[in-house]
Amino acid sequence: MTIAGESTRDARERIAAHLVGRGRELELTLAAVAAGRDLVLEGPPGTSKTTILQAITAEWGIPLVFVEGNADLTPAKLVGHHNPARVLREDYSADNFVEGPLVEAMRAGGFLYIEEFNRAPEDTLNTLLTAMADRSIAVPRVGTVTALPTFRVVASMNPYDSVGTTRLSTSMHDRLNRLAVDYQDEHAELGIVTLRTRAEGELGERLIADAVAVTRASRRHPDVRQGSSVRGAIDCTLVASELAGLRGIAAADAEEYPELVHDAMILSLSGRIHVDEAAETTPERVLREIWEDRFILEPRAAAPG
Ligand SMILES: Nc1ncnc2c1ncn2[C@@H]1O[C@H](COP(=O)(O)OP(=O)(O)OP(=O)(O)O)[C@@H](O)[C@H]1O
Ligand SMILES: [Mg+2]
Repeated sequence: MTIAGESTRDARERIAAHLVGRGRELELTLAAVAAGRDLVLEGPPGTSKTTILQAITAEWGIPLVFVEGNADLTPAKLVGHHNPARVLREDYSADNFVEGPLVEAMRAGGFLYIEEFNRAPEDTLNTLLTAMADRSIAVPRVGTVTALPTFRVVASMNPYDSVGTTRLSTSMHDRLNRLAVDYQDEHAELGIVTLRTRAEGELGERLIADAVAVTRASRRHPDVRQGSSVRGAIDCTLVASELAGLRGIAAADAEEYPELVHDAMILSLSGRIHVDEAAETTPERVLREIWEDRFILEPRAAAPG
C-alpha cells in the first residue's frame, strides 16, 4: 500500500489530458482504485464512465475487461469453462480451460468492468464477492486463480433503470465504494462534441451548439423520463453535417437550416429519449416542442453571437 503521492498526482495529470472535464470524477475514481478498492459508478448512460476507466487503465498499462451484467451472465460465464470438444479428447485440464472475464482480469491484473451490474443474477454476484474478498478464486479442475495486485472490480449501474434488475444485497453494497456520476455540464458537452465530431467552421460550431442545447433540453422536458446523453448530441452534429452537405446548405443563416436541425434531431434523438408513459406523447412530439422553443419562440437564443 502506498499513500497517493507524487506519482498518482502525475498520473492524474496525464490521464486528465485524455478527458474533457470530469476532473472531480477522475480524481475520486483514481483515489479509489489507487487505494486498492473496488467501486461502483452510478450514473445514466453517456456520462464518461467507460472513458474514465479506459484512460486510467491505459495509463496503468493494464487491460479493461468488459462484461455486461444481464440475466444470462451465469457464474460459469463470468469465471470460464472447459472447452467441451477438448475435454472429450483429453479429459479436463487447466490447459483446456477457456478464461471468462473474471479469470482474465484477475490473471492479467486488469479492471473487471461490469456494466449494468444490477442486472446480473444473484449467484453470479456471489462469485464476484468471493473474488473481491479473497483476491483469488478456486476454479474446479483448474486450481486457485490468484489476482495480480492491480485487479479491481468496477461496476456501473444506471439509477433510472429498474426493469429486470436485482436489488443488490447489503453484503455487496458493504464491499463497494460508490461514485454518483451525473451528466456533464454544458461547457464539457460542447468540448466533448467538438472533440468527437471535429465539426468546424461557422456552420460546424452552430451545429454543435444547437445539438448540445436540444440534447440538454431533452433531459429537462417534463414529459421525459430519461433524456439523451451526449452521444445524442454527437450523432446529431454528425448527421446534420452530412445532411448539410447533401442539401447544399453552407451556412447556419440559410433558410433551410432550422429544418435541417429538426430532421437531424428526429434521427439522432427520437430513439434515445424515453417518454413518461403517463404523458401520452411521443418522442417526436417532444422533440418538435424542443425545436420550436429554440428556433421559433426564442430565435435570438439560437442566433449567432
Ligand atoms: N470526458 C470525456 N472526454 C471525452 N470524450 C468523452 C467524455 N465523456 C464522454 N465522452 C464521449 O462520449 C461517449 C460516451 O461516453 P462513455 O462511453 O464514457 O459513457 P458511459 O458513462 O460509459 O456510458 P454507458 O453507461 O452508456 O456505458 C463516448 O463516445 C466518449 O467518446
Ligand atoms: Mg460505458
